[in-house]
Amino acid sequence: PETITVQELANRMAARQGEVIKALMKNGVMATVTQTIDADTAELIVEEFGHRVRRVAESDVELGIEGIEDTPENLVARPPVVTVMGHVDHGKTSLLDALRTTDMAGGEAGGITQHIGAYQVTLASGAKITFLDTPGHEAFTAMRARGASITDVVVLVVAADDGVMPQTIEAIKHAKAADAPIIVAINKIDKPGANPERVRQELLSHEIVVESLGGDVQDVEVSAKKREGLDKLEEAILLQAEILDLKANPNRSAEGAVIESRLDKGRGSVASVLVQKGVLNKGDIVVAGAEWGRVRALVNDRGRQVSEAGPSTPVEVLGLTGVPAAGAPFVVVENEMRAREICEFRQRKLKEHHVAGQVAARGTLDQMLA
Ligand code: GTP
Ligand code: MG
Repeated sequence: PETITVQELANRMAARQGEVIKALMKNGVMATVTQTIDADTAELIVEEFGHRVRRVAESDVELGIEGIEDTPENLVARPPVVTVMGHVDHGKTSLLDALRTTDMAGGEAGGITQHIGAYQVTLASGAKITFLDTPGHEAFTAMRARGASITDVVVLVVAADDGVMPQTIEAIKHAKAADAPIIVAINKIDKPGANPERVRQELLSHEIVVESLGGDVQDVEVSAKKREGLDKLEEAILLQAEILDLKANPNRSAEGAVIESRLDKGRGSVASVLVQKGVLNKGDIVVAGAEWGRVRALVNDRGRQVSEAGPSTPVEVLGLTGVPAAGAPFVVVENEMRAREICEFRQRKLKEHHVAGQVAARGTLDQMLA
């Protein structure tokens, strides 16, 4: 049977240990902080503290500290989150750059104002697609290690003149492990040596069967350089999104993941995050991995300050006290005290099971980006 220590239970609820012990005593259970109690007793206490109980994997507990559950009627359609992956030099960055210029909301020509590792494109139809850039792979890998997924769809870029290469195969494995459907973008079709049919054939031996070969994987021929096939690729993404029926509850406090983060000389800690649920507001108190802070400013993918960011929106968060790890979950909490307690707990945990897991994740990441 599942058990939990009193200390851990208190930490997870961000409650004082003494209060948890008191509540236990009231229920006839005598326990010290280091003792374990069974799941049923824990459930009783959790409810007494006004939380709803959700027995889930540890990874989920870490993600949803507050344990907010979204009921189907609260869910609203959200844009798909797309990660572009593929072998080195097959044109991932070029394709992302080309797609970005299809943005209708951007206004300014060629509007790549800054690099936040993620951006959102608004199409002529009003539909939105969120793209994660290469550094997003780090978050992707870290999230996957936690059993959580940041991406809805993987666009697998394969150069038509080069075919399936080692990192193409690596990317396929990542997508499959994350259970994310793949759309194949056969790139560089403008090149003299381009052979899209060969790419389709080669993918067969990796269990990627495109539609024209009788499978259900969409493939689109594109040229990032000549800006060909971009609308077809976007259509394919939106079709896949429709099939996935992507939804999130916007009317709740925000949850999401850190895509990348850095320390900026002028602005301090800058974390690029992807909001997955709810709406993140300026002024919110956020816990991101083992760091926390009050959101001082939110900056969108065009470098503009915004007051809020909803589901599937990438945004830079200013105001955290430290630099959270890529892939770390973030969540909005009620107050500073709770934020501090959660961070203390996590920093302790980080010290406990140190690097081992991270080193393993790094290994695959380095291979992938090498
Ligand atoms: P890494 O980030 O290093 O893995 O590479 P990448 O996959 O992002 O490739 P990148 O976009 O940097 O493109 C690699 C090279 O291919 C560049 O010289 C591009 O100009 C070229 N390239 C990309 N797309 C096309 C295309 O559609 N046609 C042609 N002819 N060249 C392309
Ligand atoms: Mg690149």
